[in-house]
Amino acid sequence: MEENFDELLLKYTAALKTLETQISILLQDFEYKNNYNPVEHIKTRIKSYDSIVKKLKKKGYSITTKNIENHVHDVIGMRIVCSFLSDVYKVVRLIENCGQIEVHQQKDYITNPKDSGYTSYHLLVYIPVNLLDGIILVEAEIQVRTIAMDFWASLEHKLSYKFQGNVPKEIKDYLYKCATDIHTLDQKMLNINKKMQEINKD
Ligand code: GTP
Ligand code: MG
Repeated sequence: MEENFDELLLKYTAALKTLETQISILLQDFEYKNNYNPVEHIKTRIKSYDSIVKKLKKKGYSITTKNIENHVHDVIGMRIVCSFLSDVYKVVRLIENCGQIEVHQQKDYITNPKDSGYTSYHLLVYIPVNLLDGIILVEAEIQVRTIAMDFWASLEHKLSYKFQGNVPKEIKDYLYKCATDIHTLDQKMLNINKKMQEINKD
């Protein structure tokens, strides 16, 4: 397994490089054509071997490269953080229509937040990677969210970790309320931005 894992890691590393390059080209083109950059920052990571094993065990699968490829959809993770709510959807459309990255699943947790209050737009994609034997498709998870959503998710993640998944109800309820406040804030910020754009047009 360890040996096979090195080969798998090579594919994932190549796919992440390809994804980063493609996204950066798309964003440069978008900025050139629209005169603004919809993205605040981007973070990427390859899931550690230990986290992959933990996820497979949790899902009840044995530790094989086949099971990693079939059941761990976020070995490659990209998080795209935008300033405004409207930018989140612009970035999603950009990826959908680029013709290189194949989107095979979309979850709009902004329109339908999770029970925790979590919001973000999730895409599962296939990235074509050119290797010696030909082109292979490698899966990746892309999360697109606003700065405010990112702030909320990182705090909630820290709390979940601290309480090992058993966050006290009082804190959970408070977090949920914060998530709705954040959504209101995102909409207000978007309105200010729209007004500013209208003024710039005149
Ligand atoms: P898994 O990756 O096995 O969890 O599959 P899934 O189908 O549940 O995926 P989903 O799209 O719901 O969530 C995947 C990722 O989104 C997680 O690994 C987190 O990064 C993020 N996420 C989902 N729900 C929450 C949440 O309630 N709080 C925080 N902080 N992050 C979340
Ligand atoms: Mg999950």
